[in-house]
Amino acid sequence: MFITLEGIEGSGKTTQVQNVARWLKLRGIDFVLTREPGGTRIGRAIRRLLLDPASCDLDPVAELLLYNADRVQHIRTLIRPALESGKAVVCDRFFDATLAYQGMARQLGVELVSRLHELVCENLQPDLTLLLDLDPARGLERTWQQVDAGRRNPDETRFEKEKLEFHQRVRAGYLELAAAHPERIKVVDASGTPSRVAERIRKLLDRFIEEYGKDG
Ligand code: TMP
Repeated sequence: MFITLEGIEGSGKTTQVQNVARWLKLRGIDFVLTREPGGTRIGRAIRRLLLDPASCDLDPVAELLLYNADRVQHIRTLIRPALESGKAVVCDRFFDATLAYQGMARQLGVELVSRLHELVCENLQPDLTLLLDLDPARGLERTWQQVDAGRRNPDETRFEKEKLEFHQRVRAGYLELAAAHPERIKVVDASGTPSRVAERIRKLLDRFIEEYGKDG
């Protein structure tokens, strides 16, 4: 079982990933919690490079390849082995982020990003993707509040420094993906308190596990 969480900056993924973990634990499902970029030792070095505001001159294609380098390492050394040993994998961001950020917002195209995923990432697809949807202006405001409060690393703010229009393209990209894959990608209203959002997610997970049990 492979579950991913997606969303724009400040959509509350990091908090909600913990709620997904809690939900799995309650059901006695063995799982691994991970994230992209940075789910492996090599990936953490790639993450620093990708998110450092000093990498402002990073070419968009080089950026795309670095996200893929992180993902290949992650799939081969962590995700695939965990899935094969029967564990569930919960990942904070995955391939949909590359489609939305590099394919759509950076305008490299969905075709290139998808082809690369097929060629080097086994075309691995999640069973369920929770898309936390929020107005980008609100998301960015939340993120900068977290940086100011010391709860978010200022050395990882290269994307937060992008213009609002960039984040609007990311959101529109994500919503387009959700409309194209309604059975896999579930849109979660990420406005309101974390506990209200957690409640929405719990309901979706309950429904998902029922269906997954039938198919599996
Ligand atoms: P996060 O770990 O705080 O979510 O930050 C990861 C950043 O990297 C976020 O701004 C989105 C971006 N990103 C991409 O642009 N493409 C990708 O494929 C992934 C996984 C993340």
